[in-house]
Amino acid sequence: MIRIGIIIGSTRPGRKAEAVARWVHGVATTRSDAEFELVDIKDFDLPLLDEPMPPAAGKYSQPHTRAWAAKVASFDAYVFVTPEYNHGPSGALKNAIDYLYREWNNKAAGFVGYGSAGGTRAVEQLRLVMGELLVADVRAQVALSLFTDFENFSTFKPAPTHEKSMNVMLDQVVGWGTALKSLRKE
Ligand SMILES: Cc1cc2nc3c(=O)[nH]c(=O)nc-3n(C[C@H](O)[C@H](O)[C@H](O)COP(=O)(O)O)c2cc1C
Repeated sequence: MIRIGIIIGSTRPGRKAEAVARWVHGVATTRSDAEFELVDIKDFDLPLLDEPMPPAAGKYSQPHTRAWAAKVASFDAYVFVTPEYNHGPSGALKNAIDYLYREWNNKAAGFVGYGSAGGTRAVEQLRLVMGELLVADVRAQVALSLFTDFENFSTFKPAPTHEKSMNVMLDQVVGWGTALKSLRKE
């Protein structure tokens, strides 16, 4: 069975990301075709990228980079749970992505976005980033609305239909994450 990391894409105090990611994890763990783990980038205390060598060289000098690299490397695929900040992903998520290179290569990813327009503009930007990292990003995505999936714009109460779209997205992530295994062995 492949391992899928559910990455919490906000480190902001009072973030909505954690509730959304816990919901994703809850739905995902009812499935039996993959193992799922919540990954909180906040736990890794990553400063703004402070490695002297480009990540593609894989020569990491900082303990926080090595810890983050080991965690990311342990997965076959990812689900990025992303807010939308100024029509893009959070700086914290982009920074965490930029820290590494090979650990992301030849893996699959899906997205759960949230915002006034379902976080779709942040997800579109992340899709461009995935191309450079050799991550195969799946078509299906979950788009949660601040207006209808959060009570008073704060308490997370997702509409039931999102569970269905999440499982379609996860079907695709499991499929591609499994198919790319042969490339990762090379
Ligand atoms: C710096 C900043 C910029 C934002 N820009 C947008 C935006 O462009 N589009 C949008 O839909 N929401 C935007 N929002 C609202 C966020 O979607 C909302 O605050 C959400 O809760 C952020 O996710 P988080 O709580 O997990 O950090 C922005 C919020 C912040 C803090």
